[in-house]
Amino acid sequence: MGNDGPGPWPSHPSNDRSQEDSEDGLSDASSVLTQVGNDEFPRHFSEREGRLFPAHRGSPYPLPVDGGEQQRLNALHYILYERLNSHYRGPVREVLAGEQGRHRRVLDLCTGTGIWVTDMADIFTNVRFSGIDIVPIAPRTTPRNVHFEIADATQPLRWHDGTMDFVHARSVSMAVADYRRMLSEVARVLRRGGLFFSGEILRKVTFDQDYFNGEPAVDAPRTENFYRIINRALAFRNLDNYAEGIADCVRTSGQFGSVRRENHVIPIGEWSSSSSGRRLGAIYRDNLAMFARNFKPMLRDAGHPDNFIDEIIEGFLDDMGTVRGMVGVYQTVWARRC
Ligand SMILES: C[S@@+](CC[C@H](N)C(=O)[O-])C[C@H]1O[C@@H](n2cnc3c(N)ncnc32)[C@H](O)[C@@H]1O
Repeated sequence: MGNDGPGPWPSHPSNDRSQEDSEDGLSDASSVLTQVGNDEFPRHFSEREGRLFPAHRGSPYPLPVDGGEQQRLNALHYILYERLNSHYRGPVREVLAGEQGRHRRVLDLCTGTGIWVTDMADIFTNVRFSGIDIVPIAPRTTPRNVHFEIADATQPLRWHDGTMDFVHARSVSMAVADYRRMLSEVARVLRRGGLFFSGEILRKVTFDQDYFNGEPAVDAPRTENFYRIINRALAFRNLDNYAEGIADCVRTSGQFGSVRRENHVIPIGEWSSSSSGRRLGAIYRDNLAMFARNFKPMLRDAGHPDNFIDEIIEGFLDDMGTVRGMVGVYQTVWARRC
């Protein structure tokens, strides 16, 4: 499975939040959670073409969740950390500042390997972190202020109203088809003044305008084509390319204020004038190459023949090696619950 194997992953398939639980009454380590036994682990995964995918029925998520993909997610976590020089944006320290008699609480949706949670839990040692995912790929041994569980982020969450101080949702746009619905659950579990964060890498070609004012269709046509094909295949799974609309979705929900959107660019390849930019660009290009190859099963599902898929992916890889000035755009949005 690529991580350190079966571990104490509580499972809460129905996301039933009707029962009280926890040592602080705020719905942690619920009595309705059950531990996933070692022999139950395989049923959370299905194997195809030598790769492991979530077995969760009805999930549109297109990427594998095996060791190779886990390495990519962890590498991306540090790319984003390097780009932001932080694990977060927004007034996180203020929101997580201690209050007598109450632990601050953070929920990470679609937590993946749980790397963001474990790094944050190391910084905010008095805050309780929960991470949920449809597959148990986060580590079996967790710091004392962390717990992971199997749950569907597109379903009602099991936590009570207003119990969370901070809800974090990074790279969930290929997991969540109905973002508005997920957001209304986020608003429900957040306390007034609590913080919501979204971070998504946009699925489109962009150039660093200061370096090269390129035209995607002219200057990176194979990258443009790659994104067009994968976005269309994702749309067949009801996963629209909505990331750039998240800030508006948050604003128009009427449940959040102080909405702040920012774009952070990450160089693709080694064209940057700074040595740190060249180094980051090389790592990010390799990460994107893995990302592209991981779409093969989805593109086969969409009915594309192997030679076409290889051509699309190779074209993208070739552009990344030759076209200078391309960047990935990591768009962050944060907002306070009102
Ligand atoms: C691209 S990864 C992002 C992981 C993590 N947020 C990060 O930034 O490193 C998306 C994750 O969403 C999970 N996922 C997919 N559908 C989900 C759902 N309905 N509920 C919870 N997790 C889901 C996948 O298993 C995968 O681990």
